[in-house]
Amino acid sequence: MSLKDDKYRNDPPQTIRIGKIEPTGEPCEEFYPGPAAMIIFGASGDLARRKIMPALFKLTRSKILTENFFIMGMARTEMDSDSFRRMIEAALREAGGFDEAIWERFSKKLYYKTVDYTDIKALEEAGRLIAEKERAHGTNGNRIFYLATPPSVYEGIIESIKASGLSGNGENQARVVIEKPSGRDLESARALDSVVLRNFTEEQVFRIDHYLGKETVQNILMLRFANAIFEPLWNRRYIDHVQITVAETNGIEKRAGYYEQAGVLRDMFQNHILQVLALAAMEPPSIYDPELVRDEKIKVLRALRPVPLNEINNWLVLGQYVEGEVDGRLVPGYREEEGVAKDSEVPTYAAMKLFIDNWRWQDVPFYIRSGKRLNKRFSEVAIQFKSVPHRLFRETLKEDIGPNTLILKIQPEERIQLRFHTKNPGSRVCLRDVFMDFSYTEGYKGLTLGAYERVLLDCMLGDKTLFVRKDGAELSWAFLTPMLDFIESGYAGAPEVNLYRAGSSGPVEADKFITREGRSWRDDG
Ligand code: NDP
Ligand code: BG6
Repeated sequence: MSLKDDKYRNDPPQTIRIGKIEPTGEPCEEFYPGPAAMIIFGASGDLARRKIMPALFKLTRSKILTENFFIMGMARTEMDSDSFRRMIEAALREAGGFDEAIWERFSKKLYYKTVDYTDIKALEEAGRLIAEKERAHGTNGNRIFYLATPPSVYEGIIESIKASGLSGNGENQARVVIEKPSGRDLESARALDSVVLRNFTEEQVFRIDHYLGKETVQNILMLRFANAIFEPLWNRRYIDHVQITVAETNGIEKRAGYYEQAGVLRDMFQNHILQVLALAAMEPPSIYDPELVRDEKIKVLRALRPVPLNEINNWLVLGQYVEGEVDGRLVPGYREEEGVAKDSEVPTYAAMKLFIDNWRWQDVPFYIRSGKRLNKRFSEVAIQFKSVPHRLFRETLKEDIGPNTLILKIQPEERIQLRFHTKNPGSRVCLRDVFMDFSYTEGYKGLTLGAYERVLLDCMLGDKTLFVRKDGAELSWAFLTPMLDFIESGYAGAPEVNLYRAGSSGPVEADKFITREGRSWRDDG
């Protein structure tokens, strides 16, 4: 029997603990924001209920939010403050971590005003109500305007905030929070920016990308630049390729109106994935300063090689889910979702190859992919290193040694894993793949903040490191817009939208694509 026939490798790789993690020193001290009022436009919507309110509730529970704080929800839906509170209470109970005593305090900071954003008189009246609550809560006139409506109405709301005097008298600096996607292509993003920047300064604008608030995403910079061992390898000499994946089991969650206009490229690639890519690929700034970090990210986005449209099918695969089973439950196909056109060609999955044309990354492919209704929910950045240059064990092993991989897991758990090889104990020369595994939360006694909690807190603190700058948003659009135009033009040669079963790992065309590249997709192992 040859060694090749023998079972000398363990499959799948084993996970080994890196030892008991002892926190060194005390947890970091948190910063506490000053007094402020948060005015949420579109407060009756999904984002407000599922993300913004639970985040503000948790910041209250964690005693981070000052007592001098209140929330004024605004939307067109007829509701009074009590009905609004009932709606929010239900949403918070559903989100988990509900606490009666905290709710008692939190609910006293919640108000609602029905408004039509085109009615300046109604907004002026809302302004008087806000001023009254500001006196009651001692918020010193500091106002944060959060645009949580569909992006198509952002421009109108911005104009109305200014026209009605809601943005104040200039003594206190108002802030405006803009949710992604800011626009639907380069032209509309620029048009929105020009309206925003006619009424506010860039300093006042906070473009949210909640992925930047996720701990592991922020940690990309710490891992790379606070350790001496990774950065020397972080380049084309040692890295074969990088995979960035955001796989979701969720569908479009009653957001057909928005999703039909967006699709996966606008929803996930233009913002979350390209932002994560920029952090993984950027050069170290001279100091950790919001503007310098953002400058370096911009340089990455500027260096993205345009995808050649005449051979786009070698670079991009699109997909759309059909009926299937996810987590043991039969779910409808995209075209059967409420509000979706029966012949919709909107992609819910995309896989793309891209290159960064600079000294560090020349010819290293980055494979980025995201999809809805997949078999697993996982988000990660996987750095796959090149294989060893010399096959020292070739006679003994009779097969190639797999490459080392560093995996930054973003979801569902926040971990860092390093895949490497060790000798199996015993007299034979045989290898086993192991994962060194570090969990973020294990051994940490301090406060952990979710992505929305983090970005909302930073907005109140005025720290812009985790927010997207105007030029960053525009460069992402500049990269994607030619592709979007080509796809949506329906020209011959434009990528087709391949169907995949809900609960699968995506369209088979995506597997064929990566096989043609001589590589394989990482599974969330
Ligand atoms: P919704 O579709 O739930 O809309 C939010 C609210 O906007 C609605 O309750 C509605 O309130 C109001 N609205 C809808 N259409 C109009 C209109 N034509 N004019 C004025 N107001 C309108 O959206 P989401 O809450 O899901 O998203 C809001 C924003 O946040 C979007 O830009 C989205 O991309 C972004 N986002 C959402 C996420 C999520 O998980 N939901 C995650 C990340 C970003 P009313 O009718 O009462 O006025
Ligand atoms: C949002 C997208 O920005 O991010 C959604 O609009 C997507 O479609 C969501 O589901 C994913 O965020 P998370 O934090 O759940 O991975």
